Amino acid sequence: MAGTVVVIGNEKGGTGKSTLAMHLIASFLKEGKKVSSVDLDGRQGTLTHYIQNRAAYSERHGIALDLPQHLSVTVRENLSDAERAEDEKTFAEQIETLAEDADAVVIDTPGADNYLFRLAHVYADILITPLNDSLIDLDVLAKIDPETLTVKTPGHYAQTVWQARQKRAALKKKAASWFILRNRLMHVSTKNERIIWRLLESLGKRINFTPLPGLGERIIFRELFLKGLTLLDVDDRRTEIEMSVSHVAARQELRTIRRSFRLNGE
Ligand SMILES: Nc1ncnc2c1ncn2[C@@H]1O[C@H](COP(=O)(O)OP(=O)(O)OP(=O)(O)O)[C@@H](O)[C@H]1O
Ligand SMILES: [Mg+2]
Repeated sequence: MAGTVVVIGNEKGGTGKSTLAMHLIASFLKEGKKVSSVDLDGRQGTLTHYIQNRAAYSERHGIALDLPQHLSVTVRENLSDAERAEDEKTFAEQIETLAEDADAVVIDTPGADNYLFRLAHVYADILITPLNDSLIDLDVLAKIDPETLTVKTPGHYAQTVWQARQKRAALKKKAASWFILRNRLMHVSTKNERIIWRLLESLGKRINFTPLPGLGERIIFRELFLKGLTLLDVDDRRTEIEMSVSHVAARQELRTIRRSFRLNGE
């Protein structure tokens, strides 16, 4: 059975896609799975740099940290229709080849629409959308009535996902599971948080996604990048991260996210 394609996507920048992609890659590797990673945001290269930082840390400290097989893709601009079709064919073949040879293929995407971004969404068996806990970030998913605070119409990213689902069905692939993951949650319950949760629950029923509680706002996510480490490395004695209550809580949140879905064969 081919491996599961897990796409991390949102048509909004800075929502935690690359951070989540790296943490899911680390989770799967820790479970002993064979993992391929794809950075579809090759121009910015956050995931690629994260993985390179991990390889460099491994070498500097003389310790063997698990690494995925990584592919960086840079989207070309101003293409003719033929060039674009060629890129799409190459990318589709790359995903299929990686999936043949891995348990999971994790694809990190840029925070903006392009032709390969759309194609990645067609190939997603599992789509995870991290969302900052704000009504501004919710805008890509739905237009909200400001008076009644109810959903008026789906937003443009919801439409992108809908179109990807149609194309996926035409390819006779099984329907994808879509999760919306709330990121950078405040540690106190606020009115804003309750409004967003309620909106996500009603929107999820309408456009078919499952809302997940997600990850709290934690400094550790910003600190680990340069060393290429993740929360999963915290209790590895070979790394020099000091464990705190906040790390333990964040790791627990990550485990809950991981348990929300199954890879093929699980
Ligand atoms: N739960 C969190 N707590 C604190 N900081 C976070 C959290 N998640 C992400 N961040 C920080 O938010 C910033 C954006 O994260 P990241 O680069 O992963 O987002 P992105 O969606 O990939 O962005 P882009 O759209 O630019 O690719 C980074 O500085 C990251 O360290
Ligand atoms: Mg990113």
